[in-house]
Amino acid sequence: MVTNKQATWGGRFSEGPAELMQHFSESVSFDKRLAPFDIEGSIAHARMLHHVGLLTAKEADDIEQGLRSILEDIANGEMVWDEALEDVHMNIEQALLKKTPAAAKLHMGRSRNDQVATDMRMFFRHACLMLVGEGIYPLLRVLLELSDDFRDVIIPGYTHLQRAQPVSVAHHFLAYMEMFGRDQERFLRVIEDASVCPLGSGAIAGTTLPINRGFAAKELGFVDEEGFPVVTANSMDAVSDRDLFFDFLHACAVCGTHISRIAEDLIIWSSSEFGFVTLPDAFTTGSSLMPQKKNPDSLELLRGKSARLQGNLQTLFTLVKGLPLTYNRDLQEDKPPVFDSYDTLLMCLEVLRETLHGTSMNPIRCAKAVSDPLLLATDLADYLVLKGVPFREAHHAVGAMVSASEKADVHLDQLDDETAKAICPALGDDWREVFELERAMAARKEPGMPGPDQINAQIERWEARLDNLGDLLVDGDEEE
Ligand code: ARG
Repeated sequence: MVTNKQATWGGRFSEGPAELMQHFSESVSFDKRLAPFDIEGSIAHARMLHHVGLLTAKEADDIEQGLRSILEDIANGEMVWDEALEDVHMNIEQALLKKTPAAAKLHMGRSRNDQVATDMRMFFRHACLMLVGEGIYPLLRVLLELSDDFRDVIIPGYTHLQRAQPVSVAHHFLAYMEMFGRDQERFLRVIEDASVCPLGSGAIAGTTLPINRGFAAKELGFVDEEGFPVVTANSMDAVSDRDLFFDFLHACAVCGTHISRIAEDLIIWSSSEFGFVTLPDAFTTGSSLMPQKKNPDSLELLRGKSARLQGNLQTLFTLVKGLPLTYNRDLQEDKPPVFDSYDTLLMCLEVLRETLHGTSMNPIRCAKAVSDPLLLATDLADYLVLKGVPFREAHHAVGAMVSASEKADVHLDQLDDETAKAICPALGDDWREVFELERAMAARKEPGMPGPDQINAQIERWEARLDNLGDLLVDGDEEE
């Protein structure tokens, strides 16, 4: 068995870990991306240690300078990551030791357990801001543009994938805007909830050293609305709590589900059978065999990748559910699903945006589909209701008219008056006016309905909301 030299924590060991164990237990290959947060956290910790008199000004300064130069080394690709040092925390500590002997004092009063919990809270703040700013916000902009462009294009709305009632294309896209709008709020809530500082919880039970948790929390921006530092209330919870991971992965999985559903709608709409949209060449692929094919691969992959986002949430549930308090090494496995969901979702949002951006509507095919008078069968029942017919009877009568028109092989609005009025004597001479689409849409005028006035109001509301969000994101950037 090949073993290695003693590890950083190796004081009580007579030999180093087996090579196999070292390779098995390393996490630096994936947690090195936490380096910027780890360094920020260490700088705050060092400043705090100086503030309470545990480090001299020079030591704290050397540590800070050293950490900053490590950040540069990483950016320049000069940092050597060593698997033997296990994780990002140990790698940075060892690199710092090469720059200043004060590095040996940096870890007093903390543990990797509270350190990694702090790093991840910083990561979540960053990741959510990116997902909203670079992912959801520009996607909403494209959806708003499409809604604006196609407010007058009416298509059949579907339930059970059967033609149901007419809606505007804008109403359809605005429905997705509601979903992605809720995703945006979900991610912003994760940012809010992230703002509690675990640093100072130590490995499990804090420390006997006279540290100042509030100082470090404030340094790292873990503050409430009035700017007061917010620290975790229980050291055991703080080092083993992964709730924020759940919230983040849940938000990713839900957003991925929305992406998958809009992808599915576009796949159906782009089929020859529907033909409502034409997808951009740049986000479709051909077949290696069938020369005529143009396949909606970007959309299919969006639908497919949403499975990973759901799987990652499930992975975390399974990982955490049986763990005794407090930290267990299993928890190292909490990061790959989080990073994978973040990377996957960010790319999915971008691909969806670009695919949508290049998608064109085919108004003629839409008009043909929506000319089906059966889409307004419910409107005919409503018409009868206004003539005093109880709704159940009206529903039944229109059903009988549909059946009679099918038998006569004519469209519902072409059923002859004699047959129609025999079925339903309450029909007036004006009953065919029900089938004027424009009129039918205009009648849908209460909030949430697809009438043109409501659609215009919704588009306006979204314009204002996105302008606000845009401002918020710019302010956020400036604060960073
Ligand atoms: N790499 C570790 C993780 O992510 C850091 C915490 C290690 N703590 C420990 N007691 N070994 O979980």
